[in-house]
Amino acid sequence: MHVIKLDATDSTNDYLRQMILVNKLTTPTVVWSLFQKKGKGQRGQVWTSQAGENLTFSLYIPNLSRYADQLFSINKIVSVCLLEWLLSFQISNISVKWPNDILSGDKKLAGILVESSVQKSMTKSIIIGMGINVNQIQFPQLPNATSMRLCTAKTYDLNTLLMSVVPKIIEGLTLTGKDWDDAYQQSLYGLNQKRRFVSGKHEFEGIIRSVSLDGKLVIETEIGEQLFDIKELQFVHIAD
Ligand code: BTN
Repeated sequence: MHVIKLDATDSTNDYLRQMILVNKLTTPTVVWSLFQKKGKGQRGQVWTSQAGENLTFSLYIPNLSRYADQLFSINKIVSVCLLEWLLSFQISNISVKWPNDILSGDKKLAGILVESSVQKSMTKSIIIGMGINVNQIQFPQLPNATSMRLCTAKTYDLNTLLMSVVPKIIEGLTLTGKDWDDAYQQSLYGLNQKRRFVSGKHEFEGIIRSVSLDGKLVIETEIGEQLFDIKELQFVHIAD
């Protein structure tokens, strides 16, 4: 495994995309930056993280092109691997909030941004970006965020954590045989509970029943089961 450590960059996903375009990478490659000036989140959001406090990195694994048109499969595997890894730190009440936010209780601990990219050879490749809140204890602009330190009252060495989480993800994505779909569905935040959601201007109540194979959230509503795409749905946050 090859690790490139940076003090700062705009976004590790974009840095790795540029590398893949120019070079043929033959070993798993990680770009880790202590600070991102333009960190990217899901749905075009920004990902903010205090410099040097958290893990923000992107991973490229050769020979994953077969998944390039099934990004949700990658999201599922990475979500479950990250959740299992976080469980090993005795963090309580961990779940995956569809599609791939990792929560402890109702607060966000980590986020994943999987993007496809074009290699030098013009075949598609996959960039797996991850932001894990580690030692940061104040999130002034993000009332719904938490960190490993806030959950466990311990501080962590970022390098040691990186060297343990990345192999776990590589193993998950390269070894076969596990029922990732089942593990993902079992870990879903709010599964079988009554919740409120917003779709467009419509707020409604429903019960999360599952996630379809193509990544849509299946919610039982008063008019029956409905499927929602990531762009169509937001959870109504439960206040503390
Ligand atoms: C989300 O939950 O919205 C996804 C957040 C993903 C953030 C990570 S940090 C490292 C990598 N580089 C980025 O610009 N984004 C991802």
